[in-house]
Amino acid sequence: MASVSNGNENAQPVPQCTYQIVVAATRDLGIGKDGKLPWKLPSDLRFFKEITLTTSDSGKKNAVIMGRKTWESIPRGHRPLPGRLNVVLTRSGSFDIATAENVVICGSMTSALQLLAASPYCISIEKVFVIGGGQIFREALNAPDCDAIHFTEIEISIDCDTFMPVIDSSVFQPWYSSFPVVENNIRYSFMTYVRVRNSVVECLNQNNDEISDQKPDTDKFEVKKFSFLPKMIFQSHEEYLYLRMVQDIIDNGTLKDDRTGTGTLSKFGCQMRFNLRKTFPLLTTKVRHVYHSSIPTYGVLCN
Ligand SMILES: NC(=O)c1ccc[n+]([C@@H]2O[C@H](COP(=O)([O-])OP(=O)(O)OC[C@H]3O[C@@H](n4cnc5c(N)ncnc54)[C@H](OP(=O)(O)O)[C@@H]3O)[C@@H](O)[C@H]2O)c1
Repeated sequence: MASVSNGNENAQPVPQCTYQIVVAATRDLGIGKDGKLPWKLPSDLRFFKEITLTTSDSGKKNAVIMGRKTWESIPRGHRPLPGRLNVVLTRSGSFDIATAENVVICGSMTSALQLLAASPYCISIEKVFVIGGGQIFREALNAPDCDAIHFTEIEISIDCDTFMPVIDSSVFQPWYSSFPVVENNIRYSFMTYVRVRNSVVECLNQNNDEISDQKPDTDKFEVKKFSFLPKMIFQSHEEYLYLRMVQDIIDNGTLKDDRTGTGTLSKFGCQMRFNLRKTFPLLTTKVRHVYHSSIPTYGVLCN
């Protein structure tokens, strides 16, 4: 949760939620045409539903924040998006959907994030996802409160009239990249980017407008810092693939004698597969020797 000043220097900063973005875009960053999605990608819709709906605490739900036009683009029978608190942004006082259950209307992104950080939502809401459209992404995508971007990367150009901004690669780095999916002759993959450092502007603000020589703490890439990600994404990181394989060897490996007399657990045919288009997995391995008469040594060989 972040804090923002409300303009009065003596007043307490008003807490506001951080959020993650979910977006699907073409090679030219097109996201919509004539108020609709100009493609049919059922697996992407399933991914969107799963990521925005799933909570680790069954007593809580997630919130989805969207612009008024995106709300209107959802077919009547499917809105509000079920199982999620739908927060609709509009500057128009005359826009009235207050009768709908599970829907909240807010006049700005800041007021929405402050509302979700306050009682009762801070207790009942687990994660906040910003889901579009173009106007909302322009404000929210590279903003300081954006923790992660779940980006369905469509590999072709499709005629669009609404676009998302370019992801700032000096701030966001790939966390995970899926294998490509092909549906309706469209090839696409699921990417997640995480914020690894502040933007230059944020660093300047934090350092009272002086550029500091010290590297910010956010530069350290530690996997556990990203446990706010949905579990299905968090555990897709290459480090988890590796740890799961090591666990499998420890649990199911065959114990064999070796020339040191300590014994080796081994398992053949294990594989880890990575999409190398955006990331290149680098693993460093510590081999720990346990000198105890009854415990064999576990060593891991990586080729
Ligand atoms: N590919 C994707 O992932 C994806 C996701 C979502 C949507 N889309 C597509 O994107 C298109 C819609 O995007 P869009 O850019 O036209 O519209 P939008 O961003 O969904 O909604 C724009 C409206 O939101 C309100 N708004 C915008 N900024 C606001 C702010 N800071 N505070 C309060 N209200 C604010 C205004 O409503 P008022 O005019 O009522 O004041 C504005 O007209 C559709 O084609 C949709 O299918 C694609």
